[in-house]
Amino acid sequence: MTPPIFDHPSLVVFDHPLIRHKLTHLRDETTGHRAFRANMAQIAGLMVYEVTRSFMSETFEVRTPMTVTSGSRVRGEITVVPVLRAGLGMIDGILEIMPEARVGHLGLARDEATLQPKAYLNKLPRDLDTGPVILVDPMLATGGSASVAVRMLRDAGASDLRMICLVAAPEGVERMRADHPDVTVYTAALDERLNEQGYIMPGLGDAGDRLFGTT
Ligand code: PRP
Ligand code: URA
Repeated sequence: MTPPIFDHPSLVVFDHPLIRHKLTHLRDETTGHRAFRANMAQIAGLMVYEVTRSFMSETFEVRTPMTVTSGSRVRGEITVVPVLRAGLGMIDGILEIMPEARVGHLGLARDEATLQPKAYLNKLPRDLDTGPVILVDPMLATGGSASVAVRMLRDAGASDLRMICLVAAPEGVERMRADHPDVTVYTAALDERLNEQGYIMPGLGDAGDRLFGTT
């Protein structure tokens, strides 16, 4: 995999031909929900390999058929937390790479007029502090939802946190930097700006609606 571009310690923008190719399908307005779903899951799977590089490992003794040697495993339980609804579209791709991960759920809906997120679900595993946590939401627009989600995760005990998204706006990146400078944001693309309605430009439209065919 081509190394991602490290623009800033807390932002990683992926630069990979396959990810660009699949993201273009997501941007294309003629892509239906079936292909949209498949491409979103695939990009998430490709990204998670690099995202998990930041996980801490520990060594332990393992017995091979020949001898005893030193093995390695991720330290603690891995937890993946999609923000409903759109984050669900990335989960299958991530779980394919890490089937052992636990899945917590946060439900947040952005008010279309005020652009403020409203929380409607908080279902997280206990002892989030015991291992790495990945927050998953394809869209980082104003950053309001991501910032609240990180706050909810911290309140639940998470400390080793990172976020994976597909399309980020500079405004959202700035918001995360200001509110949660220690949380690295991994994104497949950094777009130009937000429009007056708070949508990412050029973006891909409403991710949740396109994923679930509710447009
Ligand atoms: C979308 C998206 C993020 C949020 C981003 O969800 O999935 O959660 O908007 O916007 P922000 O950065 O300005 O907060 P939405 O609230 O539309 O809910 P949905 O996934 O159920 O459609
Ligand atoms: N939420 C989306 O689904 N898309 C955007 O462009 C902004 C917020």
